[in-house]
This record gives sequence, structure tokens and C-alpha cells, in this order.
Amino acid sequence: MTPRTLLPDLQAYADVKAHAASLKQASLERLFEEDNSRAERFTAEAAGLHFDYSKHLLTKHALASLLKLASQAGMPESIGDLFSGKSVNNTEDRPALHTLLRASSNEEHAEKFKHVIATRDRMQIIAQKLNRGEHTGYSGAVITDVVNIGIGGSDLGPRLVTSALKPFQGEVRCHYVANADPADLQNTLLHLNPASTLFIICSKSFRTEETLANSLEARAWMLTAGAKTEELEKHFLAITTNLQAAEDFGIPSGHCLPLWDWVGGRYSVWSAIGLSCAIALGWERFAELLAGAESMDQHFKTSAPSANMPLLMSLLELWYCNFLGAKNHVVLPYDHSLERLPNFLQQLTMESNGKRVSADGQPLDYTTGPVLWGSTGTLGQHSFHQLLHQGQLLCPVDFVLPLTTYTGMAQQHLNLVANCLAQSRTLMVGRSLQAAKDTLVQRGLDNKKAEELAPHLVMPGNRPSSVITMKSLNPTTLGALLALYEHRTFCSAQLWQINPFDQWGVELGKEISVGIAQKLQDADVTNTMDGATERLIQRWKNAQT
Ligand code: F6P
Repeated sequence: MTPRTLLPDLQAYADVKAHAASLKQASLERLFEEDNSRAERFTAEAAGLHFDYSKHLLTKHALASLLKLASQAGMPESIGDLFSGKSVNNTEDRPALHTLLRASSNEEHAEKFKHVIATRDRMQIIAQKLNRGEHTGYSGAVITDVVNIGIGGSDLGPRLVTSALKPFQGEVRCHYVANADPADLQNTLLHLNPASTLFIICSKSFRTEETLANSLEARAWMLTAGAKTEELEKHFLAITTNLQAAEDFGIPSGHCLPLWDWVGGRYSVWSAIGLSCAIALGWERFAELLAGAESMDQHFKTSAPSANMPLLMSLLELWYCNFLGAKNHVVLPYDHSLERLPNFLQQLTMESNGKRVSADGQPLDYTTGPVLWGSTGTLGQHSFHQLLHQGQLLCPVDFVLPLTTYTGMAQQHLNLVANCLAQSRTLMVGRSLQAAKDTLVQRGLDNKKAEELAPHLVMPGNRPSSVITMKSLNPTTLGALLALYEHRTFCSAQLWQINPFDQWGVELGKEISVGIAQKLQDADVTNTMDGATERLIQRWKNAQT
């Protein structure tokens, strides 16, 4: 099959390509000099977030051609299809209606919305009961700790929200166990008391190996501690689309909250999968999280393309990934509470858009889903920022910066802000050879030594970054931020003509691991594998004796 090329038939494609060719060599600083409205022009505002994308290799004409490309690629229709419940997940023949989960009202999908509201009500009751100290366990002790057992989308979103909103944390503590490695569960349970612990098993499919294994161990831990089988229900809740499997596991339907196949795992924190967040933060805060996301949904659905924040971010992604050669994207939150944001975004963007065929099954000859990586500032500054400033890779950066702090330590926060703004500016301005030489001479080096060393201090600059700011990080702005990246991911998928809502690529490894587990137990000696795998299996066996 001939590989598909990127939107070449669209008239705007040639314009975008031409702009990219001329801007590749452009100087960001010169672009600022040439247009004094630039800092203002290249910004967007939505749902409490401010997006500054002025430090990008972009002109108003280049942006106009990108917007035209999006329009010719059918972006307005695609956005309409997402909200109207069309089968945008075409390979699984389903809509992707995560926006419904945070809607405050909806008539278009009345039947589905009825179930959303009923589930939300149940979540509220459960969260409030726990927060009032009215949920007791097998011994009559009040539940003080909740352990969320889940992985991927059934873990990353709730884990991020709970840790990002620590200043809003209530009485009940929430913990997260995800890994197949038993050490994860063991380390978590070490400091918990079974009598006052509640497990929430989150699994859309209720078939995920890691989650089921950890849940079985959790049940054994409870039984060992003295809970009777008939008392276990006081300590287990399940969130799943597969209510039957949860019941078979021993969780009665009254202790199960539903999820629906029209919610992708990585888009599910807004559903009952987010129950642990609602418990940790309290119901009001969780409702604010939903409201923040809903307000971003409204912006995405209704604002003009030129002001549409998720669309603009996606066009930048396309611009760098497919026209300027960047194969990665860096997210640097300058807020310690957001340390889990890069992990969350990795699943969101790479599981969604790491695809090699178009939505209709044609192989693609262009890059999709750039590698997303990053960590909190200022930690990254003492680690990988060297590469950002002087490495050979083009790494477009998103800085995420709340402008105020809950810590009360204003001066220290001011320094954090200064570091963030300095990093964004440094990426742009760099340091010339002459400036490097001057710096070295000022430091006391003679001219000859300064000449020798100067190339090592040169920073080419001209490296692009966006800065996303918000007055403070709170449930509302966090909700908006996560919804922003969700919609950016969707827009990019439309431009790349791929389906962002399936993840067939994760299956084969799981299947092969079943075969290997059998071989490790000598249960299937007929299943011969490649020489390297066979040797590693043998090494494992040798290590057991
Ligand atoms: O293996 C990938 C995946 O299917 C993710 O898409 C999903 O978020 C995760 O596993 C967990 O799946 P489940 O919620 O069904 O346990």
C-alpha cells in the first residue's frame, strides 16, 4: 500500500511548507524587533489560562496558513463530531464523549447524561460519607486511607490530580498502586492498617493483569488481617465497564460504579475513575475540577480558530513535528505540585497519537505523536536543560507556571518564577561567541584562553517555547489545563488523520508475556522463542536456584 503523505492536496499545505522553509533560519529576537505587538498578538486566553506563544518561529502569515490548513483539513467539523457523539473512535466504532463527564447540562445526549449524573451523585455520596468519617470497616474502625488500584488511565489522572491539589487535601489520605511489581503494593500497605483502609479497584476492562493481581493481594491482606469474606465489601469498591467481572471478583453491584465504553481510559479522570480525587479533595473541589474542564470544552467548541488555545497548540505541534523537524515535545511545569504532569501527558499524547496508520488503515509516511518528556522546574535545570540549551535536538517547550503559591513563601516563589521566565528567555536569546568571550575575560581569563573556551559557552538560542500561566493552581485551573491538553491531542490526531482513541499497540506485548510466563514455569516447553529471549529465560531460571 502506498504510504499516505501529510495533507499534500490541501492548497494551504504548500503555503505552510513555504513559510516553514523561510522561517527555519529566522531569528526569534528579530521577529520581536520587527513587530512590537508580537508579545501581545501571539497569546490566547481561556478558562483561567493564558497561553503565550510569541517565542515561536512563527509570523502572522505563517500562522494564517496553518489555520487555513486546519480549516481545509476539516477541523471545525472534527470538533463538531467529537461533541456530537459521532464515532470518532472509528476502529472501535464508538464516540469519545469524555466532555459529557464534566458537563453541567446536556440535552444532546440525554440518555447517556442521565447515567453520568446518576454516577456523579453516587460518587458524591461515597466521598462525603468518607469525609464525614461515616464509612467504617470490618472492625468498626473509620476508614482513613483509600488505595486506588489501577494502571494507565485508571491511575495517572487520579494520581496527578490528587498530588497536584495537595493544598486542598482533606482528612482521608489517598494512595496509588499501579505496578505489576509487587513492591508497589507492598510498600504502600506497609504503613496502612487494614481495618481502616478502603480499596478502589479502577479498571475500565476489569481484565488488566497488574490491577487484578494487586487486587487479589489486597484482598488476601484484608483476610489475613482478620476480615471475614462477607465483610470484604466494606473495603472494596470497583469502577469499571465490566460490572460482571467485578461481581465475579467478589464486589457486589452496589459497590461498583459504572464507566462506559465511550470514555477512553486516558480521558477518564472525570468519571468515577476520579473517585479517589473526590475523596481526597472533597466533593466541592472535584466539582470545581469538572467545571474548569467544562469551561475549556466550551472555549474549544465555540471560539474562533485563531483564538482557540487547544487548536493553536496543536498547530504548533504539527509545525515543529512535520515542518521543522522536531520529534519531541517538552513540558516543564514550574510548580512542584505538577511533578506528575509529564507522566500523565505521556500516556495522553503518546498512547493516543503514537500511530503508524491513518484512521482508515493506510500507512503514513510522516511523523505522528512526538516523544513527550519533561519534569518540574527547577529540577530539570540541574539535569537535562543542558541539552535544551546546547544539544543538537530541536525541543519545543511548554512552560507551565502558576503565578502565585500556597506555601506562603513569596520570595522563594518569586525566584521560581524568575527561573521559569529566564529559561524561556535564555532558550530564545542564547549567547553569542563574542558574549561568551567577554564573559570569560570578565571572569579573569586571558584573551587566548577565553578564545579557546568561548565556543563551549556559546548557546545558539532561537529555541522555541510557550508559557502557559494561571493565577493559581486550583481545581478549576487544573481541570482546564488537563482538558486543554486533551483537546490539543485530539486536534493533532485530526491533522495527522489518525484515530487517537484506540491503543492496539499495547496488546501484543501483553499476549507474549503470557507465553513467557508459561515458559518460566515450564508449562509450555513447545513454545520456542528467539535465541535471545530463550537465553534470558534460562538466566532467570538459573537465578531462582
Ligand atoms: O494497556 C493500556 C491500557 O489499556 C490503557 O489504555 C488503559 O488506560 C490501561 O491499560 C488500563 O486499562 P484498564 O482501565 O482497563 O485496567
